[in-house]
Amino acid sequence: MLSWIAALLTGILTAHLAQRLCFPYFWKDALYLMKVIRYGARLEIYKRTSLIVTIVDRFVQQAQRFPEKPFVIFEGVTYTYGDLEARSNRVARLFQDTVKKGDTVALLMNNEPDFISVWFGFCKLGCALAFLNTNIKSRSLLHCFNCCGAKQLVVGADLLDNLEDILPSLQEDNITVWSLGHGNSHPGVHSLLDKIEKSSQEPIAAKRRSISCLKTPTLYIFTSGTTGLPKAAVITHLQSLKAAGGFWAYGGTEKDVIYTPLPLYHSAASLVGIGGTIELGATCILKKKFSASQFWNDCRKYNVTIFQYIGELCRYLCNQPMGENEKDHKVHMGVGNGLRQDVWREFLQRFGEIRMCEIYGSTEGNLCFMNHIGKIGAVGRSNFFYKLIFKYDLVKYDLLRDEPVRDHNGFCQRVQKGETGLLLSKICSQSPFFGYAGSKQLTEKKILRDVFVKGDAYFNTGDLMAEDENNFISFKDRVGDTFRWKGENVATTEVTEILGLVDFIQEASVYGVQVPGNEGRAGMAAVIVRPECTFDGKKLFDLVVRELPSYARPLFIRLQESIETTSTFKHQKFGLVESGFNPSTISDPLYFLDYTEKSYIPLTSSIYASISNGQKKV
Ligand SMILES: *[C@@H]1O[C@H](CO)[C@@H](O)[C@H](O)[C@H]1NC(C)=O
Ligand SMILES: *[C@@H]1O[C@H](CO)[C@@H](O)[C@H](O)[C@H]1NC(C)=O
Repeated sequence: MLSWIAALLTGILTAHLAQRLCFPYFWKDALYLMKVIRYGARLEIYKRTSLIVTIVDRFVQQAQRFPEKPFVIFEGVTYTYGDLEARSNRVARLFQDTVKKGDTVALLMNNEPDFISVWFGFCKLGCALAFLNTNIKSRSLLHCFNCCGAKQLVVGADLLDNLEDILPSLQEDNITVWSLGHGNSHPGVHSLLDKIEKSSQEPIAAKRRSISCLKTPTLYIFTSGTTGLPKAAVITHLQSLKAAGGFWAYGGTEKDVIYTPLPLYHSAASLVGIGGTIELGATCILKKKFSASQFWNDCRKYNVTIFQYIGELCRYLCNQPMGENEKDHKVHMGVGNGLRQDVWREFLQRFGEIRMCEIYGSTEGNLCFMNHIGKIGAVGRSNFFYKLIFKYDLVKYDLLRDEPVRDHNGFCQRVQKGETGLLLSKICSQSPFFGYAGSKQLTEKKILRDVFVKGDAYFNTGDLMAEDENNFISFKDRVGDTFRWKGENVATTEVTEILGLVDFIQEASVYGVQVPGNEGRAGMAAVIVRPECTFDGKKLFDLVVRELPSYARPLFIRLQESIETTSTFKHQKFGLVESGFNPSTISDPLYFLDYTEKSYIPLTSSIYASISNGQKKV
């Protein structure tokens, strides 16, 4: 008897040890997978029963559950769940006869609580919202309205000036502009604040917002376009519910205080941040803008436990001068993406054991990775079961030709473990791709067909990734027509089109180059000057500052006699990207975007040195 028990115990112990040694992540993997399945099951029930609880439904529930609980704290003022429920009702009441269920309303606002009131107010009327990036300039902004068909625009009082030059065009298109201010500051713009305050806070019947299909669009979020202008990614209720489960999947609870310094017009802050706060019933500290110097003080003041980040943000925090008691705070988790290994290590060393949770997934993509283990440098971890849920593959990519490698049958080839490849995600009913509003062509461009067999279809993420022997997935680089700078995606074609507007440029090829000490890539353009013309740095400076948001402006210009193309007549950018912007190794004339001189000035070795060692901020 005793020996039997002893044997059993030894068996359990050995199994436990073996499990610890062979599958060190077993429990973490299993727990995480359980959560994914549980959440998936909830969405499946919605699908089958049509009893769908959307983010706004969830918000209304939470507001009934604890109306007095702080929901958003902004600039020191607390807005409870009840406060924003009432205020969004006022917005809904005000517009109940102006808009119809299924209409789209555009929103151009910086972070503030009324962003949420207006968003939810229109959701309660069954409308979809189009979040406009506040950096976008006139020409592109007008285009956004055509994409999503919005007939109403709500604009923050502080952004009204951005509209000055397109107001007449908006009026011609019968788009009504509402400003979140008092009184009339601009002709043809209606004030909204006074009207909201006078409006009733009586709830609108839930029937008005009810949906019967998870694939109904609820948001349009604009991302950089590959053909020049921003494109509207269609966000359905399905995606918004998935994103809202992010904090929960990482173990967030209603006791958490979440710090959101990212712009709400991006999906990270609105869907993961606000949606996730509501899902938990937690509190969100909303910031108008990220400030590295205020960050830790805010965290201590509000007892922040979770913060949202992008890689750049953690780097800025590491670049701050050392302070006293840097580990003295309650932050135990960061949720975001784009954190690089070196910054990650330094961040933990300085600010203590904070669990950094990477979420990989583009706004429009149909795939998501989460690094539930917290392994430094990885964006996620896969396993057998995960691959059953998310069907993705890494395929060989030809950097010179800028396209996936195809074999003699025309099919792509999977890479080996550890090798870098292009990440593709299979499009099927389980993980659909909803594409871009109003453009079949743009949607088609993101789809790769006949990948492994005739007739299959994959979403092309444009990201090069690698998966190691332990199934950890890490991000390597972006390919194709976009690069990231200052946390925003830049479409090279959009910049190329703008450069083409200046008379002395014959041809331009735009790409991103790495700058030491910075995340992402800075814009650079190889330019051919027309034979009878000369390069005019001042003229080019004026153009890019007028037409492009700051993150999209090329920092460096390289004059060339000719631009190499691939066999398919695409610009050959690989060599340009690799050679960077070092004047001592490049014989072509180089120029640098200088804001003090208000011109593109020759890039000298000393300017190059001060950019490289971080003295000159770019
Ligand atoms: C704007 O409204 C006017 C009057 O209702 C109509 O005649 C005109 O065609 C509309 N314009 C557009 C671009 O829809
Ligand atoms: C933060 O936590 C401390 C200690 O638990 C508490 O005394 C303080 O009131 C909290 N502050 C806020 C803003 O909740």
